[in-house]
Amino acid sequence: MRNAVYEGFFITHFAFFLFICVHFAYGDVSYSIAEEMKRGSVIGNIAKDLGLGINTLSFRKARIDTDGNDKKYCDINMSTGDLIVTDRIDRDTLCGKKAACVLKEELVLENPLELKRITIQVKDINDNTPEFSENLILFEISESAVKGAKFLLTEARDGDIGTNAVQRYDLQNNEHFTINVNTEASGRKQSELVLVKELDREREEELKLVFTAVDGGSPQKSGTAIIHVTVLDANDNAPVFSQEIYKSSLPENSPLGFLVNIVSATDADSGSNGEITFNFDHMSDDHVSLFSLDHKTGEIRVAGLIDYETYTSIELRIRAKDGPGLTSYCTVIIDITDVNDNPPTVTLKSLSNPIPEHVSPDTEVGIINVQDRDSGNNRQVRCSIQQGVPFKLVPSIKNYYSLVTTEQLDRELVSDYNITITATDEGSPSLSSSKTVQLSVADINDNPPVFEEQSYSAYVTENNKPGSTLCSVTARDPDWRQNGTVIYSLLPGEVNGAPVSSYLSVNGDTGVIHAVRSFDYEQFRSFKVQVMARDNGSPPLSSNVTVSVFIADVNDNSPQILYPTTEGSSFMTELVPKAAQGGSLVSKVIAVDADSGQNAWLSYHIVKSTDPGLFSIGLHSGEIKTQRDISESDSMKQNLIVAVKDNGQPSLSATCSMYLLISDNLAEVPELKDIFHDEKNSKLTYYLIIALVSVSTFFLTFIIIILGVRFCRRRKPRLLFDGAVAIPSAYLPPNYADVDGTGTLRSTYNYDAYLTTGSRTSDFKFVSSYNDNTLPADQTLKKSPSDFADAFCLPDEFPESQ
Ligand SMILES: *[C@@H]1O[C@H](CO)[C@@H](O)[C@H](O)[C@H]1NC(C)=O
Ligand SMILES: *[C@@H]1O[C@H](CO)[C@@H](O)[C@H](O)[C@H]1NC(C)=O
Ligand SMILES: *[C@@H]1O[C@H](CO)[C@@H](O)[C@H](O)[C@H]1NC(C)=O
Repeated sequence: MRNAVYEGFFITHFAFFLFICVHFAYGDVSYSIAEEMKRGSVIGNIAKDLGLGINTLSFRKARIDTDGNDKKYCDINMSTGDLIVTDRIDRDTLCGKKAACVLKEELVLENPLELKRITIQVKDINDNTPEFSENLILFEISESAVKGAKFLLTEARDGDIGTNAVQRYDLQNNEHFTINVNTEASGRKQSELVLVKELDREREEELKLVFTAVDGGSPQKSGTAIIHVTVLDANDNAPVFSQEIYKSSLPENSPLGFLVNIVSATDADSGSNGEITFNFDHMSDDHVSLFSLDHKTGEIRVAGLIDYETYTSIELRIRAKDGPGLTSYCTVIIDITDVNDNPPTVTLKSLSNPIPEHVSPDTEVGIINVQDRDSGNNRQVRCSIQQGVPFKLVPSIKNYYSLVTTEQLDRELVSDYNITITATDEGSPSLSSSKTVQLSVADINDNPPVFEEQSYSAYVTENNKPGSTLCSVTARDPDWRQNGTVIYSLLPGEVNGAPVSSYLSVNGDTGVIHAVRSFDYEQFRSFKVQVMARDNGSPPLSSNVTVSVFIADVNDNSPQILYPTTEGSSFMTELVPKAAQGGSLVSKVIAVDADSGQNAWLSYHIVKSTDPGLFSIGLHSGEIKTQRDISESDSMKQNLIVAVKDNGQPSLSATCSMYLLISDNLAEVPELKDIFHDEKNSKLTYYLIIALVSVSTFFLTFIIIILGVRFCRRRKPRLLFDGAVAIPSAYLPPNYADVDGTGTLRSTYNYDAYLTTGSRTSDFKFVSSYNDNTLPADQTLKKSPSDFADAFCLPDEFPESQ
């Protein structure tokens, strides 16, 4: 009963006993101690409290028994009777969160056996700090979390109870979070993190906050943990290009794969939210194939042919897109720079072809256009024309040139031109191209036919057949077709009063000249005709040439003896004085030959005579001279037969008889008297006298003319051949040759001199048979065509220098 009272008292008054409180009660004893007392600490004197003497304790073998407990927290000091602590008494282990913690021990006394209860109340002290289960509290919070969001925090544990347990939580000061503590009915304090300001991963990827739990003990204890908040990304950022506009320049014809530019963009988001891919945006079809874009790196490379002439600048739109699809755009401007890759082109805009050859210099014949598709200097084009053509390029309006003649053209010299026009640009290296223009020159009838020779000579021997070819003339006309077609014709004229056409004809096409009739040297020896060569142009051009026709002599005339006349049966008698000395001139045979030259070169021979030794005849003079003095014994009548031969081939001859009477008086010859008195004879004599007189008169006149001519020739000594007729040298005896200034052998012969005086009374003796200039020469005379030609030249055609 007393025990129950004591217990009730203890429960009622527990709050008033804080420390050791010894309640003396018979049989039972109770103590109150703080936990965690040192071993050996005295809880109380149990002997005294139970009223037992020290000796009694040992006598009665007092001992402490644990009430069903293995652990022995206290024992009795037998010498003092104190109850002492023998083991650690941790209230928090023994009783946990129970508000009252009582250790129940029993004191056992023997002799008699007695059991005393000992109750030890263990009081809490603040011996535990608040503790978090983890030092690091990890949170992953999306940056898109809204204000007010709550995140539960773990509790801090504190072994103590009551005020010694966790009283509050503290959070390190920060702008994003606060802490909110709820005290549950059980007294547990539940804390949570409250978002007061939105997170921004792009600003702060993580937060570290110190979280402190504080108990209410004295001294106060606290425990901390780090709250580590990882801000999770939300795709709240679009990619951002480093530049809004990228500019770069790119030479045209850049190789494939050439790096043009790199675009770059950043996305503040992380992970796939920040993974950027690049793409072209709305590219025109033309540009699509030109460039490639690396979706990851943003490298823009050349993928096609970049041609400045097509695009000088290309603008690309590039889109950057992150994983979830936020996009942004940039512009890439690529300025393409020109490369001299286009040669100039030369275009012929117009051409007058053919051009007439008579166009004046500086005539425009064509227009040329030059283009270069490049730009700048690469577009500057110089145009040139090859050397050596009579054309030049004259710059006209922009890019146009006129092709202009520089001089008079002549189709007969150059009829075709290949004009090469070369255009070169000023790029580096420069490009050029050329064009060949073919130009022909059209003919104009600007060339008259020209005879190959200045004059023509034709040689024909007389008695030719009609229709025989005399010579041919040729004229050339370099003009084209009918402008150069030559037609020959004879110009009208007269020869000896007859039209030339009755003598000659010319073949209009070939220029061959034919004789129309037979010519007679004795009638005329030469004549000139004019031949015209005319082309077929319109109007026609012509030129004239002189054709001299020389007729060569043929020995077709036999010598004609003029004296003594052989006419009729009568004969002429010369009187030879008896006293005639040897060598005196007795008479003279006079003969002429209508031919000329050798054909007229007469020689006289006595073919038969009464007394062959008495008379001789001059071979060329025809003079009959006595060879010796006349003697009495000589027959009075002397008869000579004289033959006169020309030098032609074959030679022709004539003979005559000469009667000589050696007497001093005609009367001495009676037969002759008869003759003279004979009427018939006297009539004959009369005719003979007339003939003699007329021949003498003719010769006198002739001699005067010769003298006059010779006189003139002396005054003009170089005109050697005035009044002389040249004879082919081959017809002359070898002794008579003229070596003139040039060494050409030429023989001249004055045929007139062969005519001898007909009268023995005449004092004129023509011994000047040969030209003064004739020289004896022993050279062999050659007959060459030139000699022949020279010999036929007319006197006034003998230039002094020949
Ligand atoms: C011009 O060129 C043509 C064709 O190439 C050629 O037949 C002709 O002979 C040339 N003419 C000249 C004058 O070079
Ligand atoms: C001949 O010349 C004339 C001008 O004199 C010219 O008109 C004509 O075309 C030329 N004929 C030929 C065939 O060239
Ligand atoms: C040639 O002679 C003819 C006739 O005398 C004349 O009409 C013409 O002009 C002459 N031609 C030349 C080139 O002298």
